[in-house]
Amino acid sequence: MKIEIAEATSLKGKVTISGSKNATLAIMACSILTDELLILNNVPNISDVQMLAKLLREVGIDVVYLEKKHKMYLRKKKLKIRLQASDVKQIRASYYIMGALVAMRKNFKTCYPGGCDFAKRPIDYHLEAFRKTGYKIIEKNNFLFFKKQRGHSQNQNFYLARKSVGATINIIYISVLKNTSTIIKNPSLEPEVMQVITLLNQMKAKITILDQDTIEIKGVKKLLGTIFDIMSDRIEAGSYMLLACAAHQSEVRIENIYLPHLREVIQTIKELGVSIKEGKNYLELKKTFPLKGIEKEIAHYPFFPTDLQQILTVVCTQAITTSILSDEVYPNRLSHLLEIQKANGKVKSFKKKIYIEPSNLFATTLYAHDLRCGFACIVIGAVAKGITTIENAEVILRGYEELTNKLQKLGIRIKMK
Ligand code: EPZ
Repeated sequence: MKIEIAEATSLKGKVTISGSKNATLAIMACSILTDELLILNNVPNISDVQMLAKLLREVGIDVVYLEKKHKMYLRKKKLKIRLQASDVKQIRASYYIMGALVAMRKNFKTCYPGGCDFAKRPIDYHLEAFRKTGYKIIEKNNFLFFKKQRGHSQNQNFYLARKSVGATINIIYISVLKNTSTIIKNPSLEPEVMQVITLLNQMKAKITILDQDTIEIKGVKKLLGTIFDIMSDRIEAGSYMLLACAAHQSEVRIENIYLPHLREVIQTIKELGVSIKEGKNYLELKKTFPLKGIEKEIAHYPFFPTDLQQILTVVCTQAITTSILSDEVYPNRLSHLLEIQKANGKVKSFKKKIYIEPSNLFATTLYAHDLRCGFACIVIGAVAKGITTIENAEVILRGYEELTNKLQKLGIRIKMK
């Protein structure tokens, strides 16, 4: 699929933000952990969510998704595990199915997850945790065979060498239904992880954040069904906020957001020289003056998020002075640099830093290597002189609901081909 996007001399309009992709994907897997009905509100209609729903059906979960209402009903009938490798490979979040099935002490066959391959993204922390909780995992012909061994009767501690969203959530899943206690040291406490903890505690789990470095899980016998509202997607919100910063002129209102999750993004936008008016659950951005270059360290929450680094790189090409970015989470998250250079952008990486010079971008054909690189290409198209074509555009639909509709409401001329 291709997108054609014309230069936007000025952006004016309103965009309403959808539910969080990364919170939704983790939370959907919780349906495996209970026999009762799980009802989710504000579920974004994006292809990653549709794919995870397919995977859940492949293990025996009844999933009904009312797309127009953004409402999803999930209920475990009887676990019958028939995971299709071709589906597992579509998304990274398929590793949550592994964690939930290990929690239910099932034997099953699966394969490595797929998803955005902007850098080497191992799942060694996950597999190590599964083995530590009493599983033998055999890798053969690109499949992973999970075989349960002895159960565990003593309390367990897990230490994560790096803060990992997925591994933290999976260790919570494999601990929440035990008859022992578990400690996780150096967990990720990103907002998406906090939402999973909130949901599970609402399902009568016993999960406590002891301090910034420690999560304690006291296992319970059973989790109850519940109704839960997915939080607003802070990465989608930040993507549109940064698009407004890049455009030559803009007056944009971003609605249905949760401001505390966007503190560092708001701060960064102010450093770029764009004025922001904060409302209760909305923001108004007004860009009239040229951007100033910035130096920014990208790191785990509450720092500037890695998922917006690629888009921020494009924004910085529109500044009148040099910028320097360093992504501490994924130092090799650089797939977008080639695309920016194709459009005459003066960007380069050196010793884990990205250097960005003021650049006049021009239209060309770009390739969306991964989800956030894809949105970065959209920002290039919005500021580059001429009509930009973006190939492999379907990857952008993995994480941005109603993409063309939302962009058109800001005055961007865009066509899906
Ligand atoms: C989640 O990925 C998100 N994906 C990513 O968003 C996000 O970029 C990332 O967290 C960081 O915030 C989903 O939630 C589906 P990690 P995840 O485990 O959990 C290393 C998007 O655009 N690591 O937090 O897979 C890893 O290499 C996507 O929406 C290991 O070494 O990321 C990285 O350097 C892209 N071994 C660091 O930890 C492991 O077993 C953080 O990765 C796991 C991780």
